[in-house]
Amino acid sequence: MANPDYAPMFSKDVGNFFRSPVREIFKKVDLNAIYSFAGGYPSAETFPLEDIRQCMSLVIDKWGGQAFQYGATQGVTVLREAVARRCGVTPDRVQITSSSQQGIDVCTRVLVDPGDVVLTSNPSYLGALQSFCSYRADIRGVAHVADLQAYRQAFETAIDKVVSEGKKIKFLYMIPDFQNPSGETLGLAERMMLVELARKHGFLIVEDSPYRELRYEGEPVASMYSLDPERVIHLGSFSKIFAPGFRLGWILANPEILDKIYVCKQSLDLCPPVFDQYVAAEFLDSGKLDKNLAKTIALYKSKRDLLLSLLEKYMPQGISWTHPEGGLFLFLTMPEGFDSVKFYDKALSAGVAYVAGSFFHPDGSGLNTMRMNFSFMSPEKITAGVKLLAELLRSEL
Ligand SMILES: Cc1ncc(COP(=O)(O)O)c(C=O)c1O
Repeated sequence: MANPDYAPMFSKDVGNFFRSPVREIFKKVDLNAIYSFAGGYPSAETFPLEDIRQCMSLVIDKWGGQAFQYGATQGVTVLREAVARRCGVTPDRVQITSSSQQGIDVCTRVLVDPGDVVLTSNPSYLGALQSFCSYRADIRGVAHVADLQAYRQAFETAIDKVVSEGKKIKFLYMIPDFQNPSGETLGLAERMMLVELARKHGFLIVEDSPYRELRYEGEPVASMYSLDPERVIHLGSFSKIFAPGFRLGWILANPEILDKIYVCKQSLDLCPPVFDQYVAAEFLDSGKLDKNLAKTIALYKSKRDLLLSLLEKYMPQGISWTHPEGGLFLFLTMPEGFDSVKFYDKALSAGVAYVAGSFFHPDGSGLNTMRMNFSFMSPEKITAGVKLLAELLRSEL
């Protein structure tokens, strides 16, 4: 029997979903068989398997069947309390999520009506752009510029344009620490300026911060949430400081906002994964997380330093890159006219992968840019991968 005609059955929103080009890459190639600077995967070396085994067994001894039962929608109390202590807030300001991707999605779902504007950086995180599109948000990206006044002016111009079109800005989405994809970090004055703009123009800020604790140099900058906890929603994640397979994150926000998210999550997943939450709480409270994080930071710092030195040594003239103080990525800019989407097939068939920068630009610009990850591969593979990529670029430029 022929399949039914499914097309008319799908919702209109399905037409607004777009596939992640990063995940499409993963479908096509075995990441371990090539030199992959493409994904945002942590190194499997950072997963403390023995500690996790111990925590799992402790959780079963301590909580028994409760660890496998449905749990509270807000998250299990021990984890909410542990996150609250770590972040210096009260537990009523903490919602546990099934990862920070879900944090982005629920925030968009409770704040955005079709056609509402979401302001963000240009470039911005692809998974967030996917979520904004799925709710038919109108995405406006503002590029970062070093001069504070010029940066403020760029936002004011974007905001004035939205107002002149009779549209409403619901929130500004930013990744202020070691941005994905650029690797850049916003300074305190920039954060204060953005919070002030949000107050002035009456929108919220969603501060997405999965990399905040992965700092390899310099001093931490105050979170945007700490500058205005009633206007900023902060998203945290266990993915890069513990293990992404647990799919756990958290939201810090004003309780009135959290209440809407709480009800929304009831229809999404009822509650975050309960066993995972108890294991994460045990890992956090026992001090194992901080011990492991220190090792992770040392490992990633050495990989970042290696990548930076290799780029310096092998990349042809005319290519520049960011110098991230933390996180998992840096961003390359090739000369104007270079097409990193076209070049990608050539690179992949030679055995090296990256993500074309234009995919992160909501306005479709950035064709001459690419994102490189440095957490996933071994130092040997990073070295061979950069040499190969540099050779291919040299023949192209
Ligand atoms: C900026 C940003 N936000 C959110 C996420 C999603 O992380 P999680 O594993 O917590 O869903 C990522 C993952 O790479 C990211 O880079």
